Amino acid sequence: MGEKRILSGMQPTGSLHLGNLEVLRTWARLQHEYQMYCCIVDWHALTTLYDRTEQIGPAAREVAADYIAAGLDPNRVSIFIQSHVKEHAELHLLLSMVTPLGWLERVPTFKEKRENLQLNEESVSYGLLGYPVLQAADILVYRAHAVPVGKDQLPHLELTREIARRFNNLYGEVFPEPQSMVNEATAVIPGLDGRKMSKSYNNAIYLSDDADTVARKVNDAFTCPTKIRKTDPGIPENCVVCQLRRVYDPVGYQTSWEEDRQGVRGCVQNKRELTDILNALLDPLRARRRELLSDPESLTRYLAEGAERARALASETMQMVRKAMHL
Ligand code: TRP
Repeated sequence: MGEKRILSGMQPTGSLHLGNLEVLRTWARLQHEYQMYCCIVDWHALTTLYDRTEQIGPAAREVAADYIAAGLDPNRVSIFIQSHVKEHAELHLLLSMVTPLGWLERVPTFKEKRENLQLNEESVSYGLLGYPVLQAADILVYRAHAVPVGKDQLPHLELTREIARRFNNLYGEVFPEPQSMVNEATAVIPGLDGRKMSKSYNNAIYLSDDADTVARKVNDAFTCPTKIRKTDPGIPENCVVCQLRRVYDPVGYQTSWEEDRQGVRGCVQNKRELTDILNALLDPLRARRRELLSDPESLTRYLAEGAERARALASETMQMVRKAMHL
């Protein structure tokens, strides 16, 4: 295992879906090369679930089970829940003192959340504005060298670097500037309606869906609108079922696309085969996650061990921070 540290995280705001699984598979590949910290950011989830907090704990355990089921080895990677490592909160407070308000108001995710969710005035909390400062604390408290994330997180990473730079200029070098690791090869998974797969679009296939649910969802997925009969020539580029086939059957898809184009294969066959492919992919994952969730003690132990390793490093960083700030 290398000396470089990487950290990433996901919010426990609901079950993870196939789009999240692609990200987890990238993390699983990285675990062999880096010292890796995978956080479940329950405090971040409070920015949207502050009036439904009872949902966060169970969701956090599900995300932990999904991390492990997707291939992260809890003995190699430190998997932990953010709120179990209080150092994140202390660093968040200290970083908030050196983060100009203007930087936060300009963050695109904040502007979007404010507009898209049509939050009423009371829902736009101080915590929501500070979301990226908490994220910066998550990263910097481990003095992480890099952060594997999706493109949507790049503005948060840029802000994290700016905050690190500001801190280092004011108090002396404590934090490396964390690089973003965007894996261009990570497939963007289309949702059942053709838009990007997302919980908020209600177009996702979840890791927790059983085989019948997957079959039903695939059956209802958008296909090429000009292909009505089997003999009509299809345009696989316009068909969600064909697009998903390409991701999950990277070799075999070509023949099926060709047949689809020539009108010798219909949507029914495409859907049946995709269902089988997805269920073959998800079966072992479902089994592993069921096993983990039915054995609460070992999941709790994994999370406790992960938090302990995380805390050891985070408390070391906080000693450096306090010393640098004369606290
Ligand atoms: N904002 C991230 C997301 O929504 C979640 C997150 C919180 C995160 N803290 C992090 C990601 C630290 C990477 C590193 O996906």
